[in-house]
Amino acid sequence: MGFKNYILVCGGTGCESSRSDQIYHALIDEAAAQGVADQVQVIKTGCFGFCEQGPIVKILPEDSFYV
Ligand code: FES
Repeated sequence: MGFKNYILVCGGTGCESSRSDQIYHALIDEAAAQGVADQVQVIKTGCFGFCEQGPIVKILPEDSFYV
């Protein structure tokens, strides 16, 4: 069974310095709290190239982009 949604959280150096790791863990915890951990995969990625706007979060498949 595949995931319905993917949440990509930048784990690059710039975003990590803006505490993206806290966002990553908070999203995992919230997916579990909402009972959708089997539908949403939270993934830490490399740099998106928008470091100055970080932390960066991208949602797939809707392709939403949060800065
Ligand atoms: S470190 Fe996150 S966009 Fe570059």
